[in-house]
Amino acid sequence: MAWPKRSIGGSPHELAAADLAPGSGTVRSAGVAGLGCAVPDQIVTNHDLARSVDTSHEWIVERTGIVERRIAAPHEATSDFAIAAARRALADAGLPGDDVDLVIVATVTPDHPFPAVASQVQQAVGASHAGAFDLAAGCSGFIYALAAGSQFIASGFADHVLVLGAETLSRIVDWTDRATCVLFGDGAGAVVLSPAAPGEGFLSFDLGSDGGGASLLYVDAGGSRKPATRETVDSRAHTIKMAGREVFKWAVQIQVESALSALRRAELTVDDVDCFIAHQANLRIIDAAAKRLGVAPERVIVNVDRYGNTSAASIPLALDEARQTGRLRPGDIVVTVGFGAGLSWGSAVLKWGAPVTDA
Ligand code: ACO
Repeated sequence: MAWPKRSIGGSPHELAAADLAPGSGTVRSAGVAGLGCAVPDQIVTNHDLARSVDTSHEWIVERTGIVERRIAAPHEATSDFAIAAARRALADAGLPGDDVDLVIVATVTPDHPFPAVASQVQQAVGASHAGAFDLAAGCSGFIYALAAGSQFIASGFADHVLVLGAETLSRIVDWTDRATCVLFGDGAGAVVLSPAAPGEGFLSFDLGSDGGGASLLYVDAGGSRKPATRETVDSRAHTIKMAGREVFKWAVQIQVESALSALRRAELTVDDVDCFIAHQANLRIIDAAAKRLGVAPERVIVNVDRYGNTSAASIPLALDEARQTGRLRPGDIVVTVGFGAGLSWGSAVLKWGAPVTDA
């Protein structure tokens, strides 16, 4: 299959040059002022799964790099992890909830079809005057949410945006399908976006979609096309269906193209990359993309071994891991890239640790 190379994106520099900012002709960059994550306590190992489906610890590790994943308890749902992550990110930023102007939650597993998880987070953190909405772009969702939040800051619409990726994928996994049930996990990550000094914070984004690949990764029932019935439940039509091999090949290629496109927009090259954070779907996909890009292994962040594929939560979880393990230093160039259902993809280039200016 030939994959199109369409994508959109830009950098604050390009937008300023195009005189797109209302009034002034300049735009503000957004930077990460705070970061926090939350995952369920329950750990499910490969050995646990091998007791319920025909698989083995060795197969899962060899094909995916996953050793264990966090799975929500029956009483837990996406907003529980989202709210915990949001509180940690706000504490990290030293920002009261009331200063948040906008909450964006990337998720494909909201607690309910509506209201949005973002409104639950808004209420819980006391963001009394904030707008709030959810955004669905599969595993690319967090990059889309970062891009959206940054535009609100660039335009002057918002000073502080809470951006989250939060999922409880275990609720839409077919636990009898060994080809998918071993891959996914639950959790949430949040960042506080605030204005950054010019040339710092997010330097560029690249976003793309190819709806022609929808059938490679989808959930058939539970929406307006095929609402829930006894038959859809009996046939497990509410669970993830994936053409793994096809997604694998596409994922490697699109990550390379998208990351290079975002770097070009930031007027940087692969040699400038200090830290590469790919969507944590499969260790072999991460390694293959890093190798094709020419990013050295010591610059690649991996935590898929402990969390599995947490969809929109995977990139903030990996960003947090990078920070916790001392792999992010002020001034580092971080390239982060996501891909997933849609098909959709997105990349962001971030100059880490830039001092955040007064909003
Ligand atoms: N245990 C043991 N055997 C298994 C398992 C398992 N858990 N799963 C599949 N197999 C078998 C298959 O049945 C097949 O057997 P066969 O040869 O007898 O038919 C064999 O293993 C090989 O199957 P493949 O699918 O070719 O295995 P592959 O090496 O491609 O690995 C995997 C499968 C891990 C799913 C891989 O294709 C992959 O990671 N794909 C990408 C997944 C991904 O990134 N998804 C992104 C999701 S993003 C979002 O929006 C949710």
